[in-house]
Amino acid sequence: MSQTPAVRPTTAAERAERSARNDGQPTLEFGRRVPYDAYVRASTLHTLQQPLGTDPGEMSFLVVSQIMELYFKLIRHELLEARKLVRADQVWPALAPLRRAALHLEGLNAAWQTLRWMTPADFNQFRDLLGEGSGFQSAMYRQVEFLLGLKTAALIRPFKGTPAYDELTALIAEPSLWDEVVALLARHGHDLKPELLGRDFAVEHEADPSVTEAWVRVYRDPGPDNHLRLLGEALTEVADRFGDWRYLHLKAVHRTMGAKVGSGGSAGAGYLRRSMERTVFPELWTSRTEM
Ligand code: HEM
Repeated sequence: MSQTPAVRPTTAAERAERSARNDGQPTLEFGRRVPYDAYVRASTLHTLQQPLGTDPGEMSFLVVSQIMELYFKLIRHELLEARKLVRADQVWPALAPLRRAALHLEGLNAAWQTLRWMTPADFNQFRDLLGEGSGFQSAMYRQVEFLLGLKTAALIRPFKGTPAYDELTALIAEPSLWDEVVALLARHGHDLKPELLGRDFAVEHEADPSVTEAWVRVYRDPGPDNHLRLLGEALTEVADRFGDWRYLHLKAVHRTMGAKVGSGGSAGAGYLRRSMERTVFPELWTSRTEM
């Protein structure tokens, strides 16, 4: 059950009547709880920004991290919906959550602008206080990666002993959005390597020539009724915008700490560059060479 306390629904007629009664001004008095807060939980949300030190710059780092976490959650939500619809052969309806996911990724990426003020000296003002804490330990980001098909089982280990561990363990074993798209191509009559369909989904999918060829065939028909091609483009947009996030993150790392080692124990920028080599929806890219 939702934790949101009930907000009393209103009708268009009620709203018109109230506005007339208010003489066009907003309502200024409510019962015990302001309806906006009952829905958005702003008063709870604003209790969650607790910097570790006194440096005034730390707040933007903390709030941007929280904003990104919320975007990760929203993107995960859209990818789960898209995966459900693709699994049910609902190709046209699946375009809507994918379009939303791509737009959320743009919003997420815009949040990097807020950190452009930060020089290494600025970051050093509060970096030690973060201890071993690193975005690398974001469970929500890993869920997004797993849904996109980027599956590295070892990356679940930091969550051992937390509820996130069970969630990630379950999700990695499920078909990713990409696995569902591959199954959809097979149901549409494309001749794919049979092992792709009943494979161990906890292992990362590697680009397969039969899937590449299927996309080449799909893209041959540019007509508006070719919903698979529209799906391919919607997925490309998601992969492309997700790539932007990775690139902007790497740029932020270069800008604020150069080639220093990471707080999470890695080599830093070098580690991130290798992580970026894992491709989202690989055959949507390999097929472009053959088109
Ligand atoms: C400019 C500030 C930032 C710096 C210097 C930075 C640095 C790093 C470094 C060095 C890593 C590699 C792991 C490690 O050893 O820590 C990493 C990973 C990561 N960071 Fe950041 N980060 C910054 C901001 C953020 C923000 C705001 C987020 C959003 C929540 C974030 C999310 C992530 C994620 C998800 C990973 C894992 C990426 C992967 O596995 O490919 N980072 N970060």
